[in-house]
Amino acid sequence: MRKTTRLRLAGALAAALVAAGIATGPAAQASQKQPTLAELAQRHGRYFGSATDNPELTDTAYTALLGSEFDMITPGNGMKWYATEPQQGVFDWTNGDQIVDLARKNHQRVRAHTLVWHSQLPSWLTSREWTADELRAVLKKHIQTEVRHYRGKVYSWDVVNEAFNEDGSYRETIWYKTLGPGYIADALRWAHQADPHARLYLNDYNIEAVGPKSDAYYQLAKDLKAQHVPLNGIGLQAHLALQYGYPTTLEDNLRRFSALGLDTALTEVDVRMILPADDAKLATQAEWYRSLTEACLAVRRCVGITVWDYTDKYSWIPAVFPGEGAALPWDEQLRPKPAYFAIRAALGGK
Ligand code: G3I
Repeated sequence: MRKTTRLRLAGALAAALVAAGIATGPAAQASQKQPTLAELAQRHGRYFGSATDNPELTDTAYTALLGSEFDMITPGNGMKWYATEPQQGVFDWTNGDQIVDLARKNHQRVRAHTLVWHSQLPSWLTSREWTADELRAVLKKHIQTEVRHYRGKVYSWDVVNEAFNEDGSYRETIWYKTLGPGYIADALRWAHQADPHARLYLNDYNIEAVGPKSDAYYQLAKDLKAQHVPLNGIGLQAHLALQYGYPTTLEDNLRRFSALGLDTALTEVDVRMILPADDAKLATQAEWYRSLTEACLAVRRCVGITVWDYTDKYSWIPAVFPGEGAALPWDEQLRPKPAYFAIRAALGGK
């Protein structure tokens, strides 16, 4: 056998052993570490992120993967209104800061979530009536205080979360009912004043496909851009469910927001299924993760993907949809599932 052929075969064998996780000597050990999802995404100029939540941070096996596999972190609850302003004018940054500090230690960026939402509001805010002037002042103070606190420490903000109904009409939230639709532009302007460098998003679920709800965002984004309101991106949460079918117009949808000069991101991805999970469902789930990753890579201004936590151990799904779950790329024992390998493949990894 010629020397070059022998070397090539030895190299291929070493690569196979490395892929199988078997060390083959000092040189191979150097290349043994597979690139992480974050590293693979970075090759495409994208990030790969995960949500996390404070109670989970005592789980060291969990935090090890959280700290190594991802380059963008979203606090699942720690920056929401109930956590950050539990009493009027009294701010508590404990949970948000803990996650920002951890991310900084791990050289990760933070997608901050969320300033204006109808859910998880403190009772001082929901238990009384407000005039429009009062509520506008409350909202402005909350946004400006929180965004100022995290100025320079976060990459982006989900400024307004879940503002529309499924039919594309405005959701009748405390904000809409009291302030009218202008609260969205106001919120974006106040956030921009408080941190001019943060990327400002509107974020919602069931807007992955082209349809009435995503059309409402398209129209609103167009109007806001025309009025020079500081909007930088649209977050598509992508809480998908096998029983409802894959949103096949996702890529077209991302593209039309890009054409408005906006970034897009898949911000809360999970793909749930009716339990028990089986090989066929896990294979379909993997296919969906592959497709959504490819859709993001295909559209220049789709800046990255965040899974809504990375392991089934800490998914929000079973508590809210009893009998459903297994939605994330790692299982409850933190073992990678077919979905994880499908994401890697879509990102060009082996
Ligand atoms: O803080 C209390 C705790 O004191 C209490 O002991 C415990 C008992 O159930 O509940 C705790 O509150 C829970 C909270 O998360 C913090 O852990 C709530 O019950 C629970 O409903 C809440 O769920 C969060 C959910 O938003 C609320 O709507 C999920 O963790 C969070 O992942 C989820 O995230 C949302 C995004 O913000 C927006 N898009 C949808 C997504 C999924 O619902």
